Amino acid sequence: MQAVRYHEFGEVDVLHLEHIPVPQPQAGEVLIRVYAAGVLPVDWKIRRGLFPMPVQFPVIPGTAFSGVVVGLGEGVSKWQIGESVFGRSTKGTYAEYTTAPEDVIARKPASITHEEAATLSGGATTAWRAIVSEGNVQPRERVLIHGAAGGVGLFAVQFAKGIGAEVIGTAGTANVAYVKSLGADQVIDYTAERFEEIVRDVDLVLDTVGGETLARTWSVLKPGGRLVSIAGQPPMEKAKQAGIQVIRPGVATSGDLKAIAELIEAGKLTINIEMSFALADVRQAHEKSQTGHGRGRVVLRVRD
Ligand SMILES: NC(=O)c1ccc[n+]([C@@H]2O[C@H](COP(=O)([O-])OP(=O)(O)OC[C@H]3O[C@@H](n4cnc5c(N)ncnc54)[C@H](OP(=O)(O)O)[C@@H]3O)[C@@H](O)[C@H]2O)c1
Repeated sequence: MQAVRYHEFGEVDVLHLEHIPVPQPQAGEVLIRVYAAGVLPVDWKIRRGLFPMPVQFPVIPGTAFSGVVVGLGEGVSKWQIGESVFGRSTKGTYAEYTTAPEDVIARKPASITHEEAATLSGGATTAWRAIVSEGNVQPRERVLIHGAAGGVGLFAVQFAKGIGAEVIGTAGTANVAYVKSLGADQVIDYTAERFEEIVRDVDLVLDTVGGETLARTWSVLKPGGRLVSIAGQPPMEKAKQAGIQVIRPGVATSGDLKAIAELIEAGKLTINIEMSFALADVRQAHEKSQTGHGRGRVVLRVRD
């Protein structure tokens, strides 16, 4: 099969399209023909050696995929050959085939394309953990979402609004109207205004930006408020002093995936692909994601 791999940390020129054997599904795993892979910021952070996790070279990047089940490992009972599925694989998804445990995938909603479904893992799933499963947002709570147009933020806005929260988003000038169109009550253009001078008494902040944005966020939270942080490690001592609960969302369960798929089937969730690239153009795809700006997810088309 064709797969993107790298054999050392580095910039985009370490990414190569190579011919390697098709993986075999282990017990409890399915073999998936990948149709599209989501390009997550963590993929290029790992490639650059910036992510604190052990790596075994060569690496096939990517965790998010949408595709079709083409093989079943021993004991698999939930899936049949030919079913379209989406989810997460830890074996690399920038490849024609990958494998995944049968429990961490879900049926692809028929109403969306594989490219759209490839934006869900690490996008909608992270937003769901942040706002619903772990953030536990309640109706009428005030929620601030930093990076509201991004691959996680655009889903978080919709989930929080769906619960009945008051939703405030931050985005660059080009994305203000877009975030409003997702249902946000208020959108702050971070290039023109300082959010901490406009917003206060926030129950939950989802920070997808980190750095200086995180440092300026403490003052907008209510005492006892929740900070869901997915971009950098917040100083825990500071959180304790301010009486803020810090939440670092975990990996989605199959229940989370199913709940997201149901919202899509019901026509209640908008998806946005920032740009899609052929697998062979993976270097451009990473360069695009590395800008840290845009609306929605960068996607690789693995099979047209
Ligand atoms: N722990 C986890 O489970 C997890 C999962 C997914 C992602 N993450 C991390 O979360 C971060 C965001 O991921 P993503 O997939 O949403 O990234 P993304 O798709 O690249 O989106 C980033 C967004 O941030 C916005 N932005 C940039 N600077 C900003 C600022 N100063 N204030 C407000 N918005 C700003 C950009 O909007 P403009 O174009 O308008 O500037 C863009 O829409 C990354 O660091 C990623 O690694 C963690």
